Amino acid sequence: MRQTLIVGNWKMNGLTADLAWSEAMIAALPDGPGVRAVALCPPFTLISSFAARLPGWISLGGQDCATAVSGAHTGDVSAPMLADLGCRYVIAGHSERRADHGEADAVVRSKAEAALKAGLTPILCVGETLEERESGAAEAVVTAQLEASLPECEPGSLVIAYEPVWAIGTGRTASAADAQAMHRALRSALPGGHGDVTAILYGGSVKPANAAELLAQDDIDGALVGGASLKAEDFAAIIAAGQ
Ligand code: PGA
Repeated sequence: MRQTLIVGNWKMNGLTADLAWSEAMIAALPDGPGVRAVALCPPFTLISSFAARLPGWISLGGQDCATAVSGAHTGDVSAPMLADLGCRYVIAGHSERRADHGEADAVVRSKAEAALKAGLTPILCVGETLEERESGAAEAVVTAQLEASLPECEPGSLVIAYEPVWAIGTGRTASAADAQAMHRALRSALPGGHGDVTAILYGGSVKPANAAELLAQDDIDGALVGGASLKAEDFAAIIAAGQ
């Protein structure tokens, strides 16, 4: 059975005043998440406060972790530190980390390995640029990214997120058919035993208006939601979409 999962990625947004999001989100979703698991990845600075505030059905995740466990790495946060705060997930290899911090596939793989060692579930992100899509290379690029950044692990111990770079924060979304085709390709590229049990999330301008169609696709098991997760009502509507 594949997990169905909706994850909010707040990126570098959110101050203590925004902790009221949890009550607003719960009020907008009075019957809970239905069949879907839900997670929130706030900035590191808000994880503890959310841990004290969120109901048990909303898991927490980090947006990144270090490859090392501890030591002289000023400014970094390790996977055991996230686990210590009660996190269940950590995003690895988001395209903004790949672009802003030069994280190559090998680093992403080490981060995912560090997460697994700490008992966290990595949410491993892959996605092509607009040029790569327009040149017809999207599938080759994305499956190569997956192969190079996937750690060795037990089937079912990580989550994949397909996030076309050109769809992130742009308001442009992959069509449901294109997203489904890429998810199918990714599932086929996973090593034996993983394809049937690995949740593959779609990310890139997911919003209440397009969530139901995307989530209805056979190989789309959930969503990684950036901008729309900041608005409690929109995030609740995405969780509820198409249930
Ligand atoms: P977006 O971001 O929903 O704002 O496009 C998604 C993501 O980058 O995870």
